[in-house]
Amino acid sequence: MSIQNKNKDDRNFENEVRTGLAGFPKRLSSKFIYDKKGDRLFQQIMEMPTYYLYNCEYEILERHSKQLSKLFCNEDETVSLIDLGAGDGKKTKILLRYMVQNNFDIVYKPVDISQTILEELKDSLKKELPTLQVEPEKGEYFQVLNKLKTYNKTKKVILVLGSNIGNLLHPKAIEFMSSLKDALNPDDLLFMGFDQKKNPQTILDAYNDSEGITAAFNKNILYRINNEFDADFEPEKFIHWEVYNPETGTAKSYLVATEDMDVKIRNLAMDVHFEKWETIHVEISQKYTDAVVSWLADESGLRIINSFTDSREYYRNYIFIPKY
Ligand code: AVJ
Repeated sequence: MSIQNKNKDDRNFENEVRTGLAGFPKRLSSKFIYDKKGDRLFQQIMEMPTYYLYNCEYEILERHSKQLSKLFCNEDETVSLIDLGAGDGKKTKILLRYMVQNNFDIVYKPVDISQTILEELKDSLKKELPTLQVEPEKGEYFQVLNKLKTYNKTKKVILVLGSNIGNLLHPKAIEFMSSLKDALNPDDLLFMGFDQKKNPQTILDAYNDSEGITAAFNKNILYRINNEFDADFEPEKFIHWEVYNPETGTAKSYLVATEDMDVKIRNLAMDVHFEKWETIHVEISQKYTDAVVSWLADESGLRIINSFTDSREYYRNYIFIPKY
């Protein structure tokens, strides 16, 4: 593969591997876990009973579709629902169904980096909600947001579901939320899901399932490096290790080398040495409190105007507006 033929994602992944595996302690960002196989494994994670995040947000959207629809839409006005990281749209469809059935005037704009995912979503919506206007946008969040900033024809409601923000440390979360704020006009809304602090055991169980699905998901980053950079990682010689710090609310996933290893990454001309029990930090999944979300909002130029939780109060979706 020549440099010219590489797209931005490949170059980002390349940089990540170069810097993340050369330094100490070793790290790789979880956003590179996702390829076809990674997407499928994440789908399986969402089906695990211990991965409560999915069910909680589903419950919130079901319980509150009516109130949310009223808050998102004003009468006699079209609203664009911009769904960042829409995926299969299963959760958003709960809202969309309610809105279509009750004649709310909406345009649905799912945003995803995967063209395939967007096409599948569009096809399924054509069958399930044929009258809904769907305008997919392929691209990275920021690219699309920049484009949408100038999109002032209709009121915008930006959705960021799934506690995806949890993959970011607070300073990065503030950067992300600030750029969302910059894309909002005074009447626009931001609707985001934040997984909450809870019994630490419940959190560990969500990220440390006995079937090993989460382990396979995290190790997929090593398989990707093998496939895309002609490397010879032996993923079975790493164990998945999850820690949760109830003070900071940060869950962290590590891959731990169970023996001394020398890994060749041929396409990057890299030799990476692992000492026995050396770690690669692959993911953070931050858990929040109302106070922390308020602080993040404040730092980002946003204000919380409402929030919704599930029956167990494990998860919370907040509505933000820009502070002016
Ligand atoms: C998609 C980032 C919300 O951190 O809970 C699930 C990804 N990792 N199990 C999360 C994930 C391991 C997930 N997010």
